[in-house]
Amino acid sequence: MSAFSDPAAIQPLLEALSFSPDNLPLRKHVAALLLQAGRLAEAEDTYRVGLRQTPTDPDLQLGLAEVYAGLSKTSAAFVVVEELLASYPEHARAHLLHARLLARTGQLAAAREAYETAQHYNPALEDAELVAQLRERAAAQPAHGGPPPEAPGNAGLVIDEHALFSGLEKPKINFSDVGGMEPVKEEIRLKIIHPLQYPDLYKAYGKATGGGLLLYGPPGCGKTHLARATAGEVQASFINVGINDILDMWLGNSEKNLHQLFEMARLQAPCVLFFDEVDALAANRHDLRQSAGRSLVNQFLAELDGATRTNEGVLIMAATNAPWHLDAAFRRPGRFDRIVLVTPPDEAARAAVLEVLLREKPLAASVNVAAVAAKTPGLSGADLKALVDTAIEARLRESMKLGRPLPIEQNDLLTAAKEIRASTKEWFATAKNYALYSNEGGVYDDILVYLGIKKPSA
Ligand SMILES: Nc1ncnc2c1ncn2[C@@H]1O[C@H](COP(=O)(O)OP(=O)(O)OP(=O)(O)O)[C@@H](O)[C@H]1O
Ligand SMILES: [Mg+2]
Repeated sequence: MSAFSDPAAIQPLLEALSFSPDNLPLRKHVAALLLQAGRLAEAEDTYRVGLRQTPTDPDLQLGLAEVYAGLSKTSAAFVVVEELLASYPEHARAHLLHARLLARTGQLAAAREAYETAQHYNPALEDAELVAQLRERAAAQPAHGGPPPEAPGNAGLVIDEHALFSGLEKPKINFSDVGGMEPVKEEIRLKIIHPLQYPDLYKAYGKATGGGLLLYGPPGCGKTHLARATAGEVQASFINVGINDILDMWLGNSEKNLHQLFEMARLQAPCVLFFDEVDALAANRHDLRQSAGRSLVNQFLAELDGATRTNEGVLIMAATNAPWHLDAAFRRPGRFDRIVLVTPPDEAARAAVLEVLLREKPLAASVNVAAVAAKTPGLSGADLKALVDTAIEARLRESMKLGRPLPIEQNDLLTAAKEIRASTKEWFATAKNYALYSNEGGVYDDILVYLGIKKPSA
C-alpha cells in the first residue's frame, strides 16, 4: 500500500478541498488519490463535481472514465473516454483506457488498434497485462477479432417500404399553417430550403450544403408540426421516423433498417427525412453504448456523412426535448450542426394557433382569439389544443342537456384558459441549467435570450 492510499494522508486534503471546492489542481490531486486508494465512489463524486465546474477538462474526464472502468460501469466509461478522445485525439492515456475497455467487451481488433495508437503517442505507456490478454484471446478467436456487423452495401438492395416505418407522406400543410415562429421559419429557409433550391448558387460561393437541422425545445411547441410543414413548403416528401420506428431499429437488423431508411429518402428526393425524438437514436446514454448499440450509432453517423451514398436532395431534420443528451459526435460539421430553439408561441402566434385550432368549429360571434391569446402566456401549442378541447367538452355537455348544438362562446374559452397550466415551465427550469453550466460554444444562448438572462446578439 502506498503512502498515498493511507486514509490518514488523504483526510487533510479532503478537508482542504471542502474549504476550497473551486481549487481545480487540488481537486484533481485528491480525486486521483481516492482512485488510487480504491475509494471509487468518492473518487467518482470528486470528479463529477469538478466536471460540473469545467466540463471539458481532460484530466477530470480521464479520471472519471477510469473510475467507471474500475466500477465495471463499462458503457459509462466508454462514453466519457470517447468524448475525451473526440476533443483530444492524441491523448495517449485515453487511448490506453479505451483499449482496455474494448478488450473487455471482446472487440479485440479495435483494442489492439487503440493500444497501438496509445503507444504511438507515448511509447513509454505500456500495459503488459493487456498485451497478454490480447494475445491469448487472439489465439482463441479467428483473425480480425470480434464480429462487428459489416456496413450494409448498396449492391442489390431491395427496399421494403413497409418493413420499417409507417410515415411516408406528402404533407398538405406548409408554413402558412404554422402560427408565428417567423425567426425559426426564416432560419429553415436560409439553412436548408435555399441550399436545396439553389445548389449551384451555393456551390459557386463555396458555401457548404448538406448537414441536418436539429429543432429543440419544450414539448408541444410545434417541432413536429414545423418539420412536416417544411416538407409541404418545398413540396417534398416527408418521412417521419418516430420513436417506435427508432425503438424497432434497436431490435435486430438495425443498421440495415437505418440504411434502408436513408435509401428510401434518397429515392424520394426531394425529401425531408425527419427523426422525431432523435435522442433515442443519438443519445450518449450509457445503455446505448454497448457494442451492439455502438454500431447503430456509427451507422447513423455514416449515413449523415453521406459515406454510403450522397444525401443530395434530402433535408435531414430532427427534433428533441433534450439536446444535451445527444452524443457530441452528432454535432460535428455536416451532421446536426445547426440547432434551433423552438420556443412557446408568443401572443400573436398563440392567436394564430387558436385560429388554426378553431377552424371549422361552430363559433359564437363573441369569440375573440386575440383576447384569449392575451390571457395565455407560456402556453404551448399543445396546451392551447387542450384548452380548446376543454372548452368544446363543456359546450358539448350543455348541448346534450338541451338536445341541440350550441356554438362555442368566448366565455368557454376563457374558463378553459384558467384551468390549463403552462406545461413548458419545467422544461425551461432544466434547460436553464444546461444553458448556464454546459453552454459550450454558446449552443444554448437562445435559451438564455428567451429567458431574458442574456441580450440577443446583433
Ligand atoms: N405554431 C403552431 N401553429 C399551429 N399549430 C401548432 C403550432 N405549434 C403547435 N401546434 C399544434 O400543437 C400540437 C403539438 O405540436 P407538436 O406535436 O408539433 O409539438 P412538438 O414540439 O413536436 O412536441 P413534442 O416535443 O412533445 O414532440 C400539434 O397538434 C400542433 O398542430
Ligand atoms: Mg414532436
